[in-house]
Amino acid sequence: MGASKATFLLAVIAAAVLNAAVLCSGGITSSFVRKVEKTVDMPLYSDIFKVPPGYNAPQQVHITQGDHEGKAVIVSWVTVDEPGSNTVLYWAENSNQKNKAKGSITKYKFYNYTSGYIHHCTIRRLEYNTKYYYEVGIGHTTRKFWFTTPPEVGPDAPYTFGLIGDLGQSYDSNKTLTHYEQNPAKGQTVLFVGDLSYADNYPNHDNVRWDTWGRFVERSVAYQPWIWTAGNHELDFAPELGETKPFKPYSHRYHVPFKASNSTAPFWYSIKRASAYIIVLSSYSAYGKYTPQYEWLKEELPKVNRSETPWLIVLVHSPWYNSYNYHFMEGETMRVIYEPWFVQYKVDVVFAGHVHAYERSERVSNIAYNVVNGICTPVKNPLAPVYITIGDGGNLEGLATNMTEPQPKYSAFREASFGHATFSIKNRTHAYYSWHRNQDGYAVEADSMWFFNRYWHPVDDSTTAQS
Ligand SMILES: *[C@@H]1O[C@H](CO)[C@@H](O)[C@H](O)[C@H]1NC(C)=O
Ligand SMILES: *[C@@H]1O[C@H](CO)[C@@H](O)[C@H](O)[C@H]1NC(C)=O
Ligand SMILES: *[C@@H]1O[C@H](CO)[C@@H](O)[C@H](O)[C@H]1NC(C)=O
Ligand SMILES: *[C@@H]1O[C@H](CO)[C@@H](O)[C@H](O)[C@H]1NC(C)=O
Ligand SMILES: *[C@@H]1O[C@H](CO)[C@@H](O)[C@H](O)[C@H]1NC(C)=O
Ligand SMILES: *[C@@H]1O[C@H](CO)[C@@H](O)[C@H](O)[C@H]1NC(C)=O
Repeated sequence: MGASKATFLLAVIAAAVLNAAVLCSGGITSSFVRKVEKTVDMPLYSDIFKVPPGYNAPQQVHITQGDHEGKAVIVSWVTVDEPGSNTVLYWAENSNQKNKAKGSITKYKFYNYTSGYIHHCTIRRLEYNTKYYYEVGIGHTTRKFWFTTPPEVGPDAPYTFGLIGDLGQSYDSNKTLTHYEQNPAKGQTVLFVGDLSYADNYPNHDNVRWDTWGRFVERSVAYQPWIWTAGNHELDFAPELGETKPFKPYSHRYHVPFKASNSTAPFWYSIKRASAYIIVLSSYSAYGKYTPQYEWLKEELPKVNRSETPWLIVLVHSPWYNSYNYHFMEGETMRVIYEPWFVQYKVDVVFAGHVHAYERSERVSNIAYNVVNGICTPVKNPLAPVYITIGDGGNLEGLATNMTEPQPKYSAFREASFGHATFSIKNRTHAYYSWHRNQDGYAVEADSMWFFNRYWHPVDDSTTAQS
């Protein structure tokens, strides 16, 4: 081919690349253009906030994993007229045998708000890989839902997780949830990285917005477990209202199986699900040396058996690697304390929220610094996790658009758009990850990457051509 033709082709390729992205010293800062508007919450009369009809009908139905292995489910719901039955009726798809489990009822007050009757019921000894129907509201208005249990814990069990963070209840939140539901990758469980309802943005932290959020997400979380992480919007710490117990609404409404992993508080815990070992940490509970969370994590990491669960995933709200000018370095103190362990134990990926945008890092670590040696720049490290910020659920606070410049070397891809992601484990060596922005069609991937497992297949999986 002639020189002029080659030059022309190069120019075309360069133009195409520049069109999609601005190349900086790091990875890619997407130049995707969207309408930048402050998003607003859906009004109380919105279709998706409707209270289900019928006397004392269960509402805000949600499920999460109920044990360490995936053979139990916690079913939660709220009734408002009276406590009603706390029994869950459940049966396997191919069985006539109806089983009953009894739960407990709680309620709480927050300033001048009084909650409904909050039910939590753990159903146990389920079979793996089985579709179950369940019914709540026995004796008054019954409502029926279903879920599918995960495959037995094992090294090559394929499984697809959805990733959603900082969701809130705006029109954009609704788009994010719809895109997740319609994604052909078909997430089977959501790993939720914190900041659920944003009720605390309302006067007196109006807890009615916790109820509307529960009704909004029911269409997904009543049918597949969401694995909860506590964010700053779960704190509801409001001494000016006389509310000084952190996490009060969150911990009454969202139960997690923390005791099954020998945790002493519901803000840090672990579960196994299919081929993944998932560790949930709390950015807003003490994590320094000697604290309960520190002592738990120190015991926890050596327990992970990669022959059983090859994929080690960590969820935490505040990101450790974040190149946006929002919440910049807020995760730094936790990073300094725990990052050496994450490298030592070859964590595959860390998902965080908090920053209302999307970012994916290269495999880097920054663990050499010791106060006197001055070695404090992140370096490429094949043993380190990939850090992904997925706080782009679409809440009313709007997008984080202001980024540090130039893009740091450790940052592989960043874009200020709302969206969600999926992490699809194929076997012990490969997992396919993709991020979807709300402006695109349901199947369109705006960022993607093949993850190679750090324990079984620790070869280079970076996506940026760099040293
Ligand atoms: C709570 O107090 C606020 C004002 O302080 C008031 O607007 C609101 O109606 C009250 N809510 C209830 C449930 O009493
Ligand atoms: C939310 O999304 C659902 C599903 O796409 C749709 O049916 C509903 O009308 C939406 N509601 C609002 C208030 O946007
Ligand atoms: C929790 O601790 C008990 C008692 O030490 C132990 O038998 C059990 O295996 C531990 N469970 C987990 C999930 O680590
Ligand atoms: C790790 O898991 C494998 C596969 O389940 C099992 O054979 C092995 O005994 C486990 N190792 C330990 C130390 O528990
Ligand atoms: C972006 O953030 C930087 C650092 O906080 C600040 O100096 C700058 O003014 C911000 N830019 C805009 C456009 O807000
Ligand atoms: C694991 O999955 C990847 C991607 O689907 C595939 O290329 C590879 O052959 C699989 N490995 C095994 C051992 O099946």
